[in-house]
Amino acid sequence: MGVRFLLLFIVGLCRAQYDPNTRPGRTSIVHLFEWRWADIALECERYLAPNGFGGVQISPPNENLVIGDPSRPWWERYQPVSYKLCTRSGNETEFRDMVTRCNNVGVYVYADAVINHMCGGNAGAGNHSTCGSFFNAKTKEFPAVPYSAWDFNDAKCKSRSGDIEDYRDLSQVRNCRLVNLLDLALEKNYVRSRITEYMNYLIDIGVAGFRIDAAKHMWPGDVKAVLEELKDLNRKWFPAGAKPFIYQEVIDLGGEPITDSQYFGNGRVTEFKYGAKLGTVMRKWNGEKMAYLKNWGEGWGFVPSDTALVFVDNHDNQRGHGAGGASILTFWDARLYKMAVGFMLAHPYGFTRVMSSYRWPRYFQNGVDINNWVGPPSNSDGSTKSVPINPDTTCGNDWVCEHRWRQIRNMVIFRNVVDGQPFSNWWDNGSNQVAFGRGNRGFIAFNNDDWYMNVNLQTGLPAGTYCDVISGQKEGNTSTPNDS
Ligand SMILES: *[C@@H]1O[C@H](CO)[C@@H](O)[C@H](O)[C@H]1NC(C)=O
Ligand SMILES: *[C@@H]1O[C@H](CO)[C@@H](O)[C@H](O)[C@H]1NC(C)=O
Ligand SMILES: *[C@@H]1O[C@H](CO)[C@@H](O)[C@H](O)[C@H]1NC(C)=O
Ligand SMILES: *[C@@H]1O[C@H](CO)[C@@H](O)[C@H](O)[C@H]1NC(C)=O
Repeated sequence: MGVRFLLLFIVGLCRAQYDPNTRPGRTSIVHLFEWRWADIALECERYLAPNGFGGVQISPPNENLVIGDPSRPWWERYQPVSYKLCTRSGNETEFRDMVTRCNNVGVYVYADAVINHMCGGNAGAGNHSTCGSFFNAKTKEFPAVPYSAWDFNDAKCKSRSGDIEDYRDLSQVRNCRLVNLLDLALEKNYVRSRITEYMNYLIDIGVAGFRIDAAKHMWPGDVKAVLEELKDLNRKWFPAGAKPFIYQEVIDLGGEPITDSQYFGNGRVTEFKYGAKLGTVMRKWNGEKMAYLKNWGEGWGFVPSDTALVFVDNHDNQRGHGAGGASILTFWDARLYKMAVGFMLAHPYGFTRVMSSYRWPRYFQNGVDINNWVGPPSNSDGSTKSVPINPDTTCGNDWVCEHRWRQIRNMVIFRNVVDGQPFSNWWDNGSNQVAFGRGNRGFIAFNNDDWYMNVNLQTGLPAGTYCDVISGQKEGNTSTPNDS
């Protein structure tokens, strides 16, 4: 008995960073990409909590380089200048208010931690930062941290340009600059201590975990050393001994020496194969069809389910950045996108993240969207626009709010309802009509063929009348009519 208890206890501790810390029965998070803290606080209270969302991934909260005033790209937030909590999303007061209000309604906050690098090496003393901190990337001085020249990796980098040139060279990917971003020397105790100080500051405020940006570009052991110094979560909202949830951005589509499994010891990884493959299936490219999804998950060569953070699209690959390629489905392909997100949320594999985007003026030249840099909806002074809610519950100001689409919101609730139930009663027609259940709690059917689906299926559900929450909405004892 004593031994058994001890073993369980140790296993529990080791697995802690894989646990999203969401409240029981809340099984998904949403990425409110580039939202202001004030809007996220409102969204937690008015929408996310009542609809069973477990948490929010936020854009990086720390001070960054201001680029190309007034037309500012979204990616400037991936160019840190200091760890002050001061960005286009808001200042520290607003950040604290958001975390407190979201936590108070049981919707937890996951910060995007940009710890691999600082800003690009060309930003000089004449450039600006979001909080006004002085810095000079040309001389590698960031006095607001402070970092100076010997806190960066350039001496270790063996590529000709100092940038990553060859993804087949593991050392280059981790020691050289990613698109000229100044690469921090994470093997140094001093650098580690500045980063853990920043992350612990966020933990004290009440965040529940971190997306580790560019984890692929850091040595797994260096990431581990940073994570080992993190505190337990704030006792005001979390149980004693709760560890921050960790999911690392490792882009592993196969064929490179850096793989997802090298990072399992630190926490979950972002499974990029998931969205790339699901998009290929839904688009019926390469002879793929939904019938093949019967063994979706590890059967498709994905990482083990309990190490996976999964998503149909993310803020990078929805606009052709990062990885995944043209197959990635986004809100621009609304019908297929709803099916893909519905499939993800119905299927038991992985921990699920829903994307919530803004519209930008897509403009393709030679197959490339030359406007894929465009930042969030903003005012003429560069400040980010708020997220107004229309009478029909959609969002204004060009915020897409996919998480408010009925099909997606209802499937977030579906996932909560079927949590822990087995994948069951699979049916397919050998083509693109498929259906499956989750034990005796829920059942879903897809028709991605071009003809009607009219079949009798074993659902596993108790006899009764059920509401189709994709096509309609359950209101009391009735289901509202189909409007899509
Ligand atoms: C933070 O931002 C809010 C809203 O713009 C403002 O009212 C407040 O004065 C700011 N606080 C600090 C400390 O700058
Ligand atoms: C800041 O630096 C970047 C180089 O990283 C440059 O392209 C940009 O024009 C500069 N912006 C301003 C406002 O000086
Ligand atoms: C797919 O679906 C329909 C029934 O909905 C069926 O008539 C058809 O033969 C099925 N099989 C294939 C390979 O399309
Ligand atoms: C819904 O149905 C149940 C069981 O048939 C019944 O007890 C309940 O009163 C109904 N509720 C409404 C709002 O019609």
